[in-house]
Amino acid sequence: MAKGLDVGTMNIISGQQEEAETVFVQQRNSFVEIEYSDMADQMLSRSDVLHIRKGDQVYVVGDDALNFANIFNRETRRPMSQGILSSDESSAIPMIKLITEQVVGEPAYDGERLFFSSPADPIDSKLNTLYHEKTLESMLGDIGYDPEPINEGMAVIYSELADHNFTGLGVSFGAGMTNVCLAYYAVPVMKFSIARGGDWIDEQTAHATGTPVDKVTSIKEDGFELDFTTDVGGVEGALAIYYENLLDYVIKNISREVDEEDVEEGLDVPVVVTGGTSSPDGFEKLFEDHLRDAPIPFSISDVRTPEEPLYSVARGSLVAARSEEEQQTAAAPSED
Ligand SMILES: Nc1ncnc2c1ncn2[C@@H]1O[C@H](COP(=O)(O)OP(=O)(O)OP(=O)(O)O)[C@@H](O)[C@H]1O
Ligand SMILES: [Mg+2]
Repeated sequence: MAKGLDVGTMNIISGQQEEAETVFVQQRNSFVEIEYSDMADQMLSRSDVLHIRKGDQVYVVGDDALNFANIFNRETRRPMSQGILSSDESSAIPMIKLITEQVVGEPAYDGERLFFSSPADPIDSKLNTLYHEKTLESMLGDIGYDPEPINEGMAVIYSELADHNFTGLGVSFGAGMTNVCLAYYAVPVMKFSIARGGDWIDEQTAHATGTPVDKVTSIKEDGFELDFTTDVGGVEGALAIYYENLLDYVIKNISREVDEEDVEEGLDVPVVVTGGTSSPDGFEKLFEDHLRDAPIPFSISDVRTPEEPLYSVARGSLVAARSEEEQQTAAAPSED
């Protein structure tokens, strides 16, 4: 049975089918380095905290990194930045390997198929995704899988547009990036990424209001709404300003990129907006209003947001992996 994996700047999430249910396993893509001590040893041995020890140092990875960082007064570090492996983080690869192994588990059999999400090259930065993609591919191969990259925007379309022949525009607003893909009968006709997402909103808001970035992130994730009625001059007011600015920036780039492609005239497509950054109430409406005002050479039938925006990419990677598996089973000669 094939699996799906979303390798994101903030969250690593696997998806697999267990009978009628899709089961997701998630960890924060983050770690903290603390000094080995009796206290640390006690805390680690009493629980199922994911960690590795190297000499006098212990690395706590995944969801627990933040708790340990608070207790030991350390900063968390992240293996990825702006959608790809971080070149500033020397421990990126061993840390992401540990998190991924925990999230995806061992393959059920050697060479089990695994589709993992990979961003498109960004149009607004010199970053290139090749090294990231190849490194993950070889890491997943070492774990025992037969890995296949799938574009993140395409994964959104696999996840949410099965009822529409996998035709439409998928937009994934993540932490490090925003990924966009326009597909026509499951064939991507345009895909690109933008090197801005939730992290960019947090950093700009922190800078503008003089608030620590972690504080901004918690305010944003804890019930912030895009209603433009509260807190002018405060953190929520600044978050709303940068949210709107990101939306407009993404829409401007969609208009420009679609314009350069040969999009069939009279195309009427649904749009899916997802990813953690799309979570606040009011986001979908704001995006739809601004998108409908933009000069886009196709018409939009509807704008959808999935119920669980964090899981779209993992779900879509799983759908793609399973559909390939089914096709191969159907094509294989029968044994009798
Ligand atoms: N309830 C929420 N309200 C607002 N933002 C949220 C909420 N929950 C998560 N986020 C934000 O969503 C982002 C993480 O989303 P997601 O998991 O889709 O990104 P990712 O896949 O890890 O990153 P990328 O695709 O850019 O590599 C973070 O910026 C996080 O702060
Ligand atoms: Mg993502």
